[in-house]
Amino acid sequence: MTENNWSPTSWQNKPAEQMPEYKDKASFNRTLETLSNMPPLVFAGESRTLKNHLAEAAMGKAFVLQAGDCAESFAEFHSKNIRDTFRVILQIAVILTFAARVPVIKIGRMAGQFAKPRSGNSEIQGDITLPSYRGDIINGFGFSAEERTPNPDRILQAYHQSTSTLNLLRSFAHGGYADLHRVKQWILNFAADSPQGEKYLSIAKNIEHALAFLTAVGVDVNTTNIVKETEFYTSHEALLLPYEQALTRRDSTTDNWYDVSAHFLWLGDRTRQLDGAHVEFMRGINNPIGVKCGETMNDDELIKLIDILNPKNEAGRISIITRFGHEKIGDHLAKLINRVQNEGRIVNWVCDPMHGNTIKSSTGYKTRQFNNILEEIRQFFAIHKAENSWAGGIHLEMTGQNVTECTGGADDITDIDLSLRYHTHCDPRLNARQSLELAFQMAEELCAAVDSG
Ligand code: PEP
Ligand code: CO
Repeated sequence: MTENNWSPTSWQNKPAEQMPEYKDKASFNRTLETLSNMPPLVFAGESRTLKNHLAEAAMGKAFVLQAGDCAESFAEFHSKNIRDTFRVILQIAVILTFAARVPVIKIGRMAGQFAKPRSGNSEIQGDITLPSYRGDIINGFGFSAEERTPNPDRILQAYHQSTSTLNLLRSFAHGGYADLHRVKQWILNFAADSPQGEKYLSIAKNIEHALAFLTAVGVDVNTTNIVKETEFYTSHEALLLPYEQALTRRDSTTDNWYDVSAHFLWLGDRTRQLDGAHVEFMRGINNPIGVKCGETMNDDELIKLIDILNPKNEAGRISIITRFGHEKIGDHLAKLINRVQNEGRIVNWVCDPMHGNTIKSSTGYKTRQFNNILEEIRQFFAIHKAENSWAGGIHLEMTGQNVTECTGGADDITDIDLSLRYHTHCDPRLNARQSLELAFQMAEELCAAVDSG
């Protein structure tokens, strides 16, 4: 044991929800041993920089954009998918920054977002019952006993996929792809040809104009890192604790523990029990962390959780990611904000307008309606404004691909259209055009929040 009776394994003494059973214990242990000798995916110093940025957001001086797949998959692993998601995230960030003139902190649900909490342990199809799919790091999506058996080999495959995804993301962020001079080129072909595309290109033109102006007055924008590069961070749900444990290391510069599987980890809404294993694990790592918060979270519990996870009340350590749904946010959010304010706890508030708005379509697909997503975002901004609080970020499930998984938006995807390109392994994602459209609507809200702040 180390400080505060915590160690990377202390979670093992607590009840853990959502954990798979590995039948072949020897192989599972070998895998974890291998993983614990693998290089870290991120450097602890990067997590500290992110925490400092998030502290700015908590103070109302920055905005978080956390976005990406619901679940990364082995099947959809392709440089094109990584690039397209990355560039849509860049575009949303540009739209928000341009409108609201605040720094946007970009965090991908990428390079490690593999494990999924499920509401049921099993899935029934016809007269066959099999274990639920829990994400590619655990078992397979296909409905067969073999696929659905948790397989430790998947853990290493997920690790390796994360390393090469992160490698590409780092190259894009620092190697010229994210250079603001290329702002026009980030638009995807199919997205350019739409009202959102045109609006985006007009912002791009303004940015080009601004860069030309700076050059004209003598600022060398061709060598300035701020223009040439971007900061991009990774995140995932800290669900599969043996994986997280094997990637938790003592940072040599500070001697503190960091989970080096990603810069930012979050606690899911189904695994945030105060005396549970996931909370135990999260309290000891020094990364900035998120807490998903649905309708069953009450204000007493939230304060207790914050105090376990952030006893020193450090700014930037905790982001509260609320996910009530457009019909319920009005009943819950203000109360939590008030209590946190009254108790003087420092958090950054982020809106996840996806997970409280999931429905089953008339055609049987799990979907989300664009307008419901937008409605939750609008209420999120309005409630924060009424409570004199900063609406500090947004958490989206989206992809750069032209999928048909969420209904509505400018293309007016209908329940019937869902079958056309429904590729997600888990929850429905906004496609590139829907993401841009949402970004413009959000930009208006964020701009109003900045102007009234
Ligand atoms: C998710 O973010 O994919 C997720 C499962 O969220 P939540 O824990 O809020 O349900
Ligand atoms: Co999801």
